[in-house]
Amino acid sequence: MDDLPLRLDDLESLARAAMDPRAFDYYLGGAEDEHTLAGNREALDRIRFRGRVLVDVTSIDLGVELLGTRLPSPVCIAPTAFQRLAHPGGEEATAAAAATVGHLMVASTLATTRFEEVAASGGPTWLQLYVFRDRGLSEALVQRAEAAGATALCLTVDTPVQGKRERDVRNGFALPPHLRMANFDGGVGDGLGVRPGDSALAAFIHEQFDPSVDWSDVAWLRSITRLPLVLKGVTHPEDARRAVDEGIDGLVVSNHGGRQLDGALATIDALPDVVAAVQGRIPVLLDGGVRRGRHVAAALCLGAAAVLVGRPVLYGLAAAGRDGVRHVLDTLDDELSRTMALLGATRVSELGPDLVAPRRGGW
Ligand SMILES: Cc1cc2nc3c(=O)[nH]c(=O)nc-3n(C[C@H](O)[C@H](O)[C@H](O)COP(=O)(O)O)c2cc1C
Repeated sequence: MDDLPLRLDDLESLARAAMDPRAFDYYLGGAEDEHTLAGNREALDRIRFRGRVLVDVTSIDLGVELLGTRLPSPVCIAPTAFQRLAHPGGEEATAAAAATVGHLMVASTLATTRFEEVAASGGPTWLQLYVFRDRGLSEALVQRAEAAGATALCLTVDTPVQGKRERDVRNGFALPPHLRMANFDGGVGDGLGVRPGDSALAAFIHEQFDPSVDWSDVAWLRSITRLPLVLKGVTHPEDARRAVDEGIDGLVVSNHGGRQLDGALATIDALPDVVAAVQGRIPVLLDGGVRRGRHVAAALCLGAAAVLVGRPVLYGLAAAGRDGVRHVLDTLDDELSRTMALLGATRVSELGPDLVAPRRGGW
């Protein structure tokens, strides 16, 4: 892995060179003017720390406990669709890389590999879900996830309709004929063929996702599974409070990597209110723009239990398959460990808001 770049940002150009330009654009892009896409990263880069000194930092422990599972690191893999667009190894290669040390992988419903094969990696794995117009499809996925050993389910709630991803519309983004949405049988997803002048994914979402989904569907999902249920895509503190009341087990503060509502608040700026709203009753995770160990540290200081990483994992996969994903996870862990040492924190539980410079008006 010596030839892989030191900075994860530099994986982007390697992925661009390795991939079909339309598929790469699908990975890279955000909604509309991509303000939120850029904003996630900018807000993380604006964080300034004030560390503690004269602490013995010989040994740093990155371990965290999340929904009853001990994880070696708070760095987790976000659910991203169609990983075989990056590399023939696809989701299986990502899962194998994650399982080497035991990083949590959240597998997408829209994967190009069946969930059972992802879970077979043996590492901790969640299945990400959408609520489909055909509730039977969602229910069948829940049952398969339970049977395959998922440790939690993650319902994405920021996609009642698809954000306008203009790169994909312009490119007429579609899955190439040799790939399919492997979690579905019987013709679901066949709509992902080329549609001139439109994104086939946008058309699929319009056809299959139910824009009427509300809290009663969350209660339904809660009632049909014994697995912990996490909501992904919450940014408003009132929704966070409601989720606790509805018996939800965890939240991911996310704006879908800037791919849904353009103009949405940067996730690191949304995090503190959500953390305050849940009052420690359930874990709150964060994703969006995490590219450095210091970004992970910032999220943990502001109350996140763990972070999810999306695009860098895809770029690592495109650049070097399983080894590329390993490189991404190792780099983030290494940077986080060094950042913690420089902050005078030897355990994740020692990362608190006091280590982040207060902003005017407070967090
Ligand atoms: C190419 C791509 C595909 C994605 N597919 C899904 C998906 O199927 N389900 C989902 O909940 N989120 C999906 N996301 C959003 C990610 O889970 C995550 O919220 C986002 O990528 C985090 O931002 P980052 O890429 O800046 O790390 C996708 C993101 C990307 C970039």
